[in-house]
Amino acid sequence: MVNQAWPNNLGPVICVVGARPNFMKMAPILRAFTGHHPALPTLLVHTGQHYDKDMNDRLFADLRLPRPDINLEVGSGTHAVQTAEVMRRFEPVLDAHRPSCVLVVGDVNSTLACALVCAKKEVPVVHVEAGLRSYDRLMPEEINRVLTDQIADRLYTTERSAHANLAREGIANERMCFVGNVMIDSLLANRELAHPPAVTLRAAGVDPGILNGPQGYGLVTLHRPSNVDHAETLAPLLGVLREVAEKVPLVFALHPRTRANVERFGLGELLGSRRIVLLPPQGYLEILGLLAGARLVLSDSGGLQEETTALGVPCLTIRENTERPITVEQGTNTLVGCDPGAIRRGVDDILSGLGKTGRVPEFWDGRAAERIASDLASWLIARHAQRGR
Ligand code: UD1
Repeated sequence: MVNQAWPNNLGPVICVVGARPNFMKMAPILRAFTGHHPALPTLLVHTGQHYDKDMNDRLFADLRLPRPDINLEVGSGTHAVQTAEVMRRFEPVLDAHRPSCVLVVGDVNSTLACALVCAKKEVPVVHVEAGLRSYDRLMPEEINRVLTDQIADRLYTTERSAHANLAREGIANERMCFVGNVMIDSLLANRELAHPPAVTLRAAGVDPGILNGPQGYGLVTLHRPSNVDHAETLAPLLGVLREVAEKVPLVFALHPRTRANVERFGLGELLGSRRIVLLPPQGYLEILGLLAGARLVLSDSGGLQEETTALGVPCLTIRENTERPITVEQGTNTLVGCDPGAIRRGVDDILSGLGKTGRVPEFWDGRAAERIASDLASWLIARHAQRGR
């Protein structure tokens, strides 16, 4: 534990979460603050972007995240409405608590919205998972990443390629710090607690016998607007999943956006196979167990690309690009886009033993949050001293 004196007149670190992928990033950061810098006051703000029990409450419990000190309860909306609503509701929080900085994670709408409010009020922004770029501006997350990084005063990165991305955008090297991956901190902290896949299926009322075939099972998640918001893309994707399921049974955890679109486009029949198990969004410990036990993963998630790399499970990413290139270069990830032929080939390779085994990238070692806590405490104290002069 580092006993750095915390100046009395320095406000709390406001930590912001909004949507599901933020929760596993923030949990280890809060634990590192409490464990290593107990004098550093924090305030957890939840924007309420995700609010369902399945998307929210179960993850908070699994990750042992404290109850948020403040919940802005913004809920769903168009991107503009959601972003604007977070901004409107977050501004008074800054006025009331006068933080020393605001720490945001990842690339969701809440991340950018809170960073933007800070920029206009001269509150320093700290961005965890900075510098990732897909170079695909059609992804809402890419806009969130680029703009948040422009605003941020301290940028913590998960892989070294992020530094070159940031430098290209004119961000000074002194603002960046390579710390590793907090998402993997959560994975390693919870690995032993993960629920066995059979228990998860039984709890969902499904016979777990389906997991025990000679090929094991594949885990599927899909939620990117580019894959699920148009029937012309979603229908062929579900068609190829149905084919894949004939070779290896699939467990498909359905995001609410995807479930709604499957119904809206009348595509439910494509999922009506005995070899496809449909589950609602899962808790963290359930997904971790399902991931660790899977023969392969088919997904368009950012987080799963990293988690499968850490676990050594082959992952076929249903996207044309990735902002996490290290998972392809060093890990178990392969980009297959939404081309049915590429998906079929990828699955066949894995089932015939040719899947990537990969290696775990540098600093994906369970200690990224500790590095952040230590650097941030020193950075804030130094900044405070400089300003007081
Ligand atoms: C958001 C993030 C995405 C992240 C994903 C993880 C942005 C731009 N996108 O996408 O990066 O990978 O979270 O899940 O921030 N809904 C519910 N219950 C909820 C939340 C949402 O039913 O608790 C439904 C609503 O109909 C909503 C839709 O899901 O309109 C989409 O939710 P939203 O938060 O807008 O984006 P995600 O697709 O979840």
